Amino acid sequence: MQLFLSRFLKAITLTLSFLVRSSTSGDLNAMIQSSSLVNGQTLRSTGELFQLGFFNPDNSSAKGYLGIWYCNLTPQEGTVVWIANRNKSVNTSMASFNLTSDGNLILFEEDRIVWSTGTRSTGLNYTRLHLLDSGNLVLNDSNSINLWQSFDHPGDSQTYVPGMKLGFNFRTNTSRRQVSWRSPKDPSPGDYAHVVLALAIPDIVMLKGSAKTHRGGPWNGYGFVGDPMMVTSQVVSSVRLSFVSNKNEIYFMANYTATPTRVLSRSVLFANGTFQLWFLDRGGNGEWQLLWSIPQDDCDIYNRCGRNSVCTWYYYTFNCDCLNGFVKIEKNGSSEAGWCEREKPLNCSSNNQFSKVSNVKVPDTENATARGNMSLDECKTWCLNDCSCVAYALISGDDGSCITWPGDLLDLRAFVVGGNDLYVRLAGEHLLDHPNHKDQHEIRGAESLLFDLEAIRIATDNFSDGNKLGEGGFGPVYKGTLANGEHVAVKRLSRSSGQGLDELKNEVFLVAKLRHRNLVKLLGCCLESEEKLLVYSYLANTSLDKFLFDNSKRKQLDWTTRFKIIEGISRGLLYLHEDSPLKIIHRDLKASNILLDANMDPKISDFGLAKLFGADETQGNTQRIAGTFGYMAPEYAMHGLFSIKSDVYSYGVLVLEILTGQKNSGHRGIEYPIELVTHVVWRHWTQGSALQVIDQDLVKQCDSPQILRCIHIGLLCVQEDPTQRPTMANVVLMLNSHFVNLPIPSAPSFLSNLNTTGESNGIPRRGNSRGSNEILLKISENDVSISELEPR
Ligand SMILES: *[C@@H]1O[C@H](CO)[C@@H](O)[C@H](O)[C@H]1NC(C)=O
Ligand SMILES: *[C@@H]1O[C@H](CO)[C@@H](O)[C@H](O)[C@H]1NC(C)=O
Ligand SMILES: *[C@@H]1O[C@H](CO)[C@@H](O)[C@H](O)[C@H]1NC(C)=O
Ligand SMILES: *[C@@H]1O[C@H](CO)[C@@H](O)[C@H](O)[C@H]1NC(C)=O
Ligand SMILES: *[C@@H]1O[C@H](CO)[C@@H](O)[C@H](O)[C@H]1NC(C)=O
Ligand SMILES: *[C@@H]1O[C@H](CO)[C@@H](O)[C@H](O)[C@H]1NC(C)=O
Ligand SMILES: *[C@@H]1O[C@H](CO)[C@@H](O)[C@H](O)[C@H]1NC(C)=O
Ligand SMILES: *[C@@H]1O[C@H](CO)[C@@H](O)[C@H](O)[C@H]1NC(C)=O
Ligand SMILES: *[C@@H]1O[C@H](CO)[C@@H](O)[C@H](O)[C@H]1NC(C)=O
Ligand SMILES: *[C@@H]1O[C@H](CO)[C@@H](O)[C@H](O)[C@H]1NC(C)=O
Ligand SMILES: *[C@@H]1O[C@H](CO)[C@@H](O)[C@H](O)[C@H]1NC(C)=O
Ligand SMILES: *[C@@H]1O[C@H](CO)[C@@H](O)[C@H](O)[C@H]1NC(C)=O
Repeated sequence: MQLFLSRFLKAITLTLSFLVRSSTSGDLNAMIQSSSLVNGQTLRSTGELFQLGFFNPDNSSAKGYLGIWYCNLTPQEGTVVWIANRNKSVNTSMASFNLTSDGNLILFEEDRIVWSTGTRSTGLNYTRLHLLDSGNLVLNDSNSINLWQSFDHPGDSQTYVPGMKLGFNFRTNTSRRQVSWRSPKDPSPGDYAHVVLALAIPDIVMLKGSAKTHRGGPWNGYGFVGDPMMVTSQVVSSVRLSFVSNKNEIYFMANYTATPTRVLSRSVLFANGTFQLWFLDRGGNGEWQLLWSIPQDDCDIYNRCGRNSVCTWYYYTFNCDCLNGFVKIEKNGSSEAGWCEREKPLNCSSNNQFSKVSNVKVPDTENATARGNMSLDECKTWCLNDCSCVAYALISGDDGSCITWPGDLLDLRAFVVGGNDLYVRLAGEHLLDHPNHKDQHEIRGAESLLFDLEAIRIATDNFSDGNKLGEGGFGPVYKGTLANGEHVAVKRLSRSSGQGLDELKNEVFLVAKLRHRNLVKLLGCCLESEEKLLVYSYLANTSLDKFLFDNSKRKQLDWTTRFKIIEGISRGLLYLHEDSPLKIIHRDLKASNILLDANMDPKISDFGLAKLFGADETQGNTQRIAGTFGYMAPEYAMHGLFSIKSDVYSYGVLVLEILTGQKNSGHRGIEYPIELVTHVVWRHWTQGSALQVIDQDLVKQCDSPQILRCIHIGLLCVQEDPTQRPTMANVVLMLNSHFVNLPIPSAPSFLSNLNTTGESNGIPRRGNSRGSNEILLKISENDVSISELEPR
């Protein structure tokens, strides 16, 4: 009786909800048994995010489809997340979508069945159809038993939303693929598919027909090795990615990290083969933003450089470089890239060695083998013991998989951030034949980083004034020419280091291992008879400040060059912060520390020095840290708190200097506070006149949206609150994607307007003995250790 009553009440409620229609549009919010939906009516989700109804992608014909799309977007390519009848259109004026009396869901064209769920309710007349705010269409019976849901039957949808699985279900033998439309007006299956390959090492690939056009690579626990931007983008779009592989199913899926969601996100595989990830900040201006797409560049195209070759994307072009020990084979009669082959065949029994390739998308794993729970050494041994193994890598997935490859290595690309290390097997003798190879420092012992003092004296003409390049933060710098003709810059350290010689040597070796195209290369050091010398490669164009703050030379810095410099510094800094083995905070980033090579490519110098000289023995239990006025983040200047975010601050100042051609610290020492570049830019930016304060030569060459975007990013970096400042990963993302929405910056720190000649509680004071543009700060060890705990 009670059961009957409750069912009865339920039935009444349902009937009422069915009857509740919006007075204007004929929208429903649930369908019950023996009801139908016809052209012009829609079923809406509770939060009005999605709707189900008939739509017509080609307005000129009567042919239509039953699908689900966003309430606030027109149903078209890229906005329809599910279609019942994508293979077969219906005449919408004759079609109806019925939930039958026995709980079957059927799409009719007149009385012909076009599509159906084939379900049958056990709860008699209590079956309901709901559209959820996730975009999932759910058919439930009286006991809330899920009879059918669209997320389980995505029908090769072109558009995926969080909660939908891409993969394969071994129990039902069904694959869940993302398949493009045939054309923007025709939803029938097109040429392109995004699929999970259920191989021994699962992979996610884009296919055209059966040919790969892009490969995501193995899952490393966070994302696919070949799509590092995917990992970055999940933060912005508030989703968490997961990859599940077990005996029942294998799938890749995104989930929102919070409900209700602040953002909406969708991925689309378009008819032209482009894959795009979009997101909408619901608190924002209501506009969808493109977050990233595949291919991002040429190197994203499958095997762009041919086998045994690494594709590198750099400043709008791509390069194909052979792996170590391989030589280029040009493709005859064609401008295509060709491929690379081994210089010397491998001889399994001889003394093989491995050449390390860092930050790459590891080769296609189609024929590779994986074993779990291995260390890097075990993985190497495994490879050595297998004559068919030509390379190995440890993928930092859930269980630390060792992957070994046979045959040719296909589809490698280099990344600035992300990717994985790969170890390529080489014939032993090979390395001896090529001592000048670029990886020599890895292979040669660390002792080779030690320079002979006599050699350096000769190279620098006994540190003659004529060879002096300038005075850096830690002592004078000399130009030198080594016996082999190589030009070097020698930094002669005048400060005593807080560290012992061995410790110092160790640090130098660690820093010398950092390799990045936007870092000055530390070639080695010389620690002999009281001399402490650091030897760097010499850069033809000296430093950025020499150009930027010189009225005539500044003209050589056109917009393309300046953007290249802004971008390059961001990548070098990102490498230091997140990707280098040492996780270095620079602490003294400024224009004079940005060196320029012959192509005006920027290289950051003096990194790692703060680490070498963090402690000053003359100060006992306090430390003296050098920073440079104008570039120092307020929390660093006031409290000695340094973190990657204080570097971001300095970076922001640098960006604004590059754009304005003005020195932020130009007026230091004058009695009265001078308005600094950061504030001038901020004031104009808030008044909408930012272009007025930019170097007027740039404005003429004009790509003003790009300039404005750089100003915006610079202002985000100099915000007072370190937590508000972006990370360098975000900066790189913001610089490289025109589509990422930038947050509104808050006012920059006003610390830099404080009276710098005053001497009070912790406020920076001018260095009096140094005469350089440095100020000295007292920093307690507690502060330093706390700041180093700041998460990266
Ligand atoms: C679909 O349902 C409607 C309303 O219940 C009904 O009038 C119509 O005949 C049904 N269509 C078919 C083909 O059964
Ligand atoms: C079809 O027509 C509607 C209303 O006239 C319009 O909003 C929509 O953009 C058109 N769709 C296409 C694909 O042209
Ligand atoms: C649509 O047709 C293709 C072949 O043209 C077929 O592979 C696919 O399974 C069909 N999809 C549906 C949902 O019926
Ligand atoms: C669609 O159906 C309507 C109503 O039956 C009919 O008038 C029209 O000609 C049909 N259109 C097409 C393209 O079949
Ligand atoms: C459900 O079925 C029962 C028994 O068959 C009937 O009495 C009741 O009216 C039906 N309810 C609805 C909403 O159709
Ligand atoms: C449908 O049934 C599932 C359980 O299978 C339940 O979690 C869900 O809340 C039900 N949905 C609705 C709209 O009642
Ligand atoms: C799954 O599909 C494949 C290919 O269509 C077929 O060979 C295999 O027998 C199917 N397995 C099951 C369990 O249905
Ligand atoms: C993702 O969301 C679905 C549906 O809400 C849930 O069933 C699943 O457990 C979630 N997966 C992860 C990895 O959080
Ligand atoms: C492919 O189509 C999408 C959507 O129309 C567009 O945004 C993208 O730029 C196109 N890609 C190419 C390479 O044409
Ligand atoms: C290309 O042509 C040259 C000379 O005609 C020949 O020696 C070489 O083997 C060819 N290379 C390939 C890969 O066919
Ligand atoms: C895998 O091996 C097959 C057979 O040798 C070969 O045709 C194919 O190109 C290899 N795939 C890759 C990615 O190396
Ligand atoms: C700066 O500080 C000095 C020393 O305390 C003081 O004489 C001077 O007036 C101050 N200047 C300003 C602008 O506050």
